[in-house]
Amino acid sequence: CGIVGVVGNDNTTKILLNGLEKLEYRGYDSAGIYVNNENNKDYLVKEVGKISQLEKKVGPEIQGEMGIGHTRWATHGQPTVDNAHPHFSADNRFYLVHNGVLTNYADLKAKYLSDVDFKSQTDTEVAVQLVDYLVTKENMDTEAAFRKALTMIEGSYAFAMVDKEQPDRIYVAKNKSPLLIGLADGFNVICSDAMAMLDSTHKFLEIHDGEVVILKKDSVEISTIAGEKVTRDPYTVELDASDISKGTYANYMLKEIDEQPVVMRKISSHYFDGKDIKIDEKMLEDVANADRLYIVAAGTSYHAGLVGKDIFENLTDVPVDVELASEFGYHMPKLSKKPFFIFLSQSGETADSRQVLVKVNELGHHSLTMTNVPNSTLSREATYTMELLAGPEIAVASTKAYTAQIAVESVLAKAVGEYKGVKLAQEFDLQGQLALAANAIQTIVEEKDRFKKIAHDYLANSRDAFYIGRGIDYALSLEASLKLKEISYIHAEGFAAGELKHGTISLIEKDVPVFAYVNDGVGAAHTRGNIQEVEARGGHVLVISSKKYAEDGDQVVLPAVDEMISPIVSVVPAQLIAYYAALERGNDVDKPRNLAKSVTVE
Ligand code: G6P
Repeated sequence: CGIVGVVGNDNTTKILLNGLEKLEYRGYDSAGIYVNNENNKDYLVKEVGKISQLEKKVGPEIQGEMGIGHTRWATHGQPTVDNAHPHFSADNRFYLVHNGVLTNYADLKAKYLSDVDFKSQTDTEVAVQLVDYLVTKENMDTEAAFRKALTMIEGSYAFAMVDKEQPDRIYVAKNKSPLLIGLADGFNVICSDAMAMLDSTHKFLEIHDGEVVILKKDSVEISTIAGEKVTRDPYTVELDASDISKGTYANYMLKEIDEQPVVMRKISSHYFDGKDIKIDEKMLEDVANADRLYIVAAGTSYHAGLVGKDIFENLTDVPVDVELASEFGYHMPKLSKKPFFIFLSQSGETADSRQVLVKVNELGHHSLTMTNVPNSTLSREATYTMELLAGPEIAVASTKAYTAQIAVESVLAKAVGEYKGVKLAQEFDLQGQLALAANAIQTIVEEKDRFKKIAHDYLANSRDAFYIGRGIDYALSLEASLKLKEISYIHAEGFAAGELKHGTISLIEKDVPVFAYVNDGVGAAHTRGNIQEVEARGGHVLVISSKKYAEDGDQVVLPAVDEMISPIVSVVPAQLIAYYAALERGNDVDKPRNLAKSVTVE
């Protein structure tokens, strides 16, 4: 979910709606705003669907100097108007928006709020009714009630709350879910992500877990829940509002696919100084001293980790485990004696990954976050950070962050390998390879019509599809199939080519599309055998490989790069195929159903 807030500006409604549009990637099943003006009038508008739906419902009379807004990704309760935020107390005095999950809401409801007439099925409404209960039944003032409620609530939250009787301030608090304060000229704002408020300010202040902020037009009071004062300096966000515009593109996803060559060149020029790699010396030592690397991530980042395993093991000579964050945190295997943790996270905010990092920190181990968002939670809380330098990624389906993650993993692997004197690392011309990869991607994206046709020929009438490959191509197949699922809603599976025959081949029948990757040198002959098996059962196979296999029928021949980093190039056809399949089905490519880009609940 995404949160915004404004205090002290006549254009509050506009700033809230603009901010919500920028945060739409965090969820878009419903949205709402609360606005309060000096004449003691206030407005609450909520709507199901995307921000554009909400905008239609916000009439010109809805103006004020302060307000809060929210775009939702449903956890508790369906996406209905009643379940949309802001939620409010029974007496229409307190309004609150929330990102996170309150785990003890049912207990609180039963214990204190059994008389209250609840309007929604959300966990959030309990928080606002609880504050109201403490004010009306326990005679607390609003601030004391807010603080008290925070001590009673368990779970994750970023809260922004308004008391209608104190329209000069917003009460803010956070635990585990991200939230920032923005310091603008003559007014102040809050937001889940700086991107939402770049039109108002570039100056932001972090809020840490367990802190309360009282935000007014010209002051920011930060304190602990217990009331101890906290002082903190603001930081500047370098991003430009134009960095997050679509330009001439119809949607962000295609723009981001097209940006990949530039990202590869940027990573190369940022991390290399001549032939030398420029990274934190201490981090290098730390990683080099580890007896095992644990890569922890979710979604597409997890898939980038699977590719990274191969690269790290080859170049650093250290064993690597790749772990799903949501599993690893709660079912931690026996760790090696000297582990080092690498968190891959485009957003740097994924709650599943963050809970692992919290545990890793408690255990006293060192860690690195590779992220696209400097200053994100995972970046701040890990020992080290490496930036992906992909530029803001807005489309929900990740593309350039995946290829950037593989490139940055390669940079670290080569640096560590060189430091340890691993011959393969010394000989590996990563700069040359990244240049080749950039050119290769360029060639592929210039052939868009071809992939549009493939998407049509293979997928127009398909319910299911498969991506298969071995080794590095297997890791890639998982990502390729995820892309297709995410935006086209075609059921797709990524499969180890050799494993297909052990069960799943029963799903192959006439015209089922199978995209077979054959870059893996060692397994190529066997994969080609597997292709034959699929074709013999009527499967419609497209081979994607940097080598020409004429006899294997339809083929996309990719420009060649080193096998280790080949997914950087070979994922691009899958991105384009998914993109065109989704377009053909009339789907919203940038905002696929049910998903959110940054999932800040476990
Ligand atoms: C969400 C997104 C995925 C993403 C995953 C991990 O589920 O929909 O596209 O891969 O989170 O995100 P992260 O920001 O940690 O890489």
